[in-house]
Amino acid sequence: MELLPVVCLCLLTRCGITSADGNGPAVVTVEQDRDVILPCSLSTKENIESKLFDWKKAAQKDGKNKEVFFYDAGIHYNNGRAGQSEEFKGRVFHFPGELKHGNASIIIRNTKMADSGDYTCVFPHLQTRQTFHIKLVVGAAPKPNIENLDQTKDRALLQCEANGNPQPEVEWRDSAGNKLPAEEPHVSQRDGRFFISLNAAVNKTDRYRCVATQKNISHQIYAETFVHLNGQ
Ligand SMILES: *[C@@H]1O[C@H](CO)[C@@H](O)[C@H](O)[C@H]1NC(C)=O
Repeated sequence: MELLPVVCLCLLTRCGITSADGNGPAVVTVEQDRDVILPCSLSTKENIESKLFDWKKAAQKDGKNKEVFFYDAGIHYNNGRAGQSEEFKGRVFHFPGELKHGNASIIIRNTKMADSGDYTCVFPHLQTRQTFHIKLVVGAAPKPNIENLDQTKDRALLQCEANGNPQPEVEWRDSAGNKLPAEEPHVSQRDGRFFISLNAAVNKTDRYRCVATQKNISHQIYAETFVHLNGQ
């Protein structure tokens, strides 16, 4: 029974009443602690300075919808209007200069894992009510960190550290793109994120790349290092 509302919501979202491309919600991914812009623009590009738009975040489990940002003809949460949910206070801003082009996008500063979720941007009073769906995923893997732990004449031990949520798959590659045999990754969890450490021993001079991939959110990022060995 408890699952039912969630399922309904997903169906609605999938149908994409109005979404950026008609194929369900636009998905936006961001690294934790970074700022993110949630897009919302009218295709008519009409001036919305004197209009009303309302950003909400869908309820998690038992909670209520969150009030993210509300704008009504120049009055909004950052200049006196009450009602914004506590967790968004002082962190959400619109782009005043963009309103005349029908752009109601907002920026959320300093994103937290808890900001992940389903957002809607609604224009309730336009001739046809417009609703935009944006799914935000906080936890994209940042660029991995590479260290050369130990190097001898003919061998180097490289360590790659990556993190993110969902758990990134981490691998080492040589300059030709071949996957290197590596030790078992070491995985730990902290602050709602997965931390992965992966060592690989290399024995030739080359440029090596550590790649972190989060397939489920279509995110991939890498770091590179050059290893010069005397042997070859
Ligand atoms: C809306 O404004 C934001 C912030 O300036 C910008 O990043 C975005 O590209 C704009 N969207 C459109 C459709 O112009």
